[in-house]
Amino acid sequence: MPSSFAEARVDLGAISENIAALARRARGAAVMGVVKADGYGHGMLPAARAMLAGGAEWLGTAFIEEALELREAGFTCPVVAWILPPRAPLAAAVAADVDLGVSAPGLIADIAAAARETGRPARVHLKADTGLNRGGLTAEQWPETVAAAARAEAAGLVRVAGVFSHFACADEPGHPSIAAQISAFHEALEIAEKAGLDPEVRHLANSAATLTLPETHFDLVRPGIAGYGLSPIPGLADTGLRPAMTLRAAVALVKRVPAGSGVSYGHRYTTDRPANLALVPLGYGDGIPRAATNTGPLLIGGRRRTVSGTVCMDQFMVDLGDDTLGDEPEAVLFGPGDHGEPTAQDWAEVLGTIPYEIVTRISPRVPRVYDGAP
Ligand SMILES: Cc1ncc(COP(=O)(O)O)c(C=O)c1O
Repeated sequence: MPSSFAEARVDLGAISENIAALARRARGAAVMGVVKADGYGHGMLPAARAMLAGGAEWLGTAFIEEALELREAGFTCPVVAWILPPRAPLAAAVAADVDLGVSAPGLIADIAAAARETGRPARVHLKADTGLNRGGLTAEQWPETVAAAARAEAAGLVRVAGVFSHFACADEPGHPSIAAQISAFHEALEIAEKAGLDPEVRHLANSAATLTLPETHFDLVRPGIAGYGLSPIPGLADTGLRPAMTLRAAVALVKRVPAGSGVSYGHRYTTDRPANLALVPLGYGDGIPRAATNTGPLLIGGRRRTVSGTVCMDQFMVDLGDDTLGDEPEAVLFGPGDHGEPTAQDWAEVLGTIPYEIVTRISPRVPRVYDGAP
């Protein structure tokens, strides 16, 4: 059951505006809003609606199940799912007109079989591994898979709607792998063209590339994190992005303790003077990393403070010094930063991670509350 003491407020207007800003950057390329992992923790369906309102024409998910949820909710735009493990529901995807990312040569036959079973052609996007060495067809697999896709297309079982790839280091401007991947992508496109494929969309750019590498925009860009207002490149100037999620909780209690009091499990924090301690009812059960022990920043009573002692499953403590709090005090862990609260980027820096993880890991126990259109 979701907690009633805490909420992740999501500003849908910010998501729409972020997508609109990215569409302006993409100048002519269409935008696919990436909504996998429950919209990076923001709620997939509301995030998807906000992205379409901001001008996205495509949606992207990791898994077919996520894409089917979009279809069941009434989304009719093109949706691509790009991780297809064994026993992925290919026929259900074809029946629901979900585009499929192809990362393994054998998938063409499997998808063609699903198309035969469903009685309609499957739409696929061939994914070239241009150097990420994660999903995608290797340079060795590419020509045979392209040929198999061309045969399946000629047989009316498959439509090759897209050719795409994904960057390893687009968030590190100037990284030598970027130029190498761009050139490998051009080679993959050339091979596809020579085999007679004529994809509607060629796509390569994630958020970082959408913001910094115009030569990678091709026909379609695929921003995820930037749509939620978080920069994929810390410190990048003039992104025009606004963080959409604010995580906050009511302060559950405040109590006075003497100097020398060990606080929370393991007594990893000790008061150096008599102090007021606030209990914040959020913990690792809510997605607050336990590694935020003694480091997580937050705003309480108009001042920036730090988690004091161990983050527990449901709660953590904060040393307020001699400060007292007004009625119904609240703790803001992160947000857009308008009122002096930390950002998800601040949490990421303290914890040695990326803001993607900070927002995505907030658990279903924390209710999402939506502000703004749509
Ligand atoms: C294939 C693909 N495209 C686009 C994205 C969006 O990336 P980002 O959130 O960095 O924009 C992802 C996310 O991991 C992805 O896997």
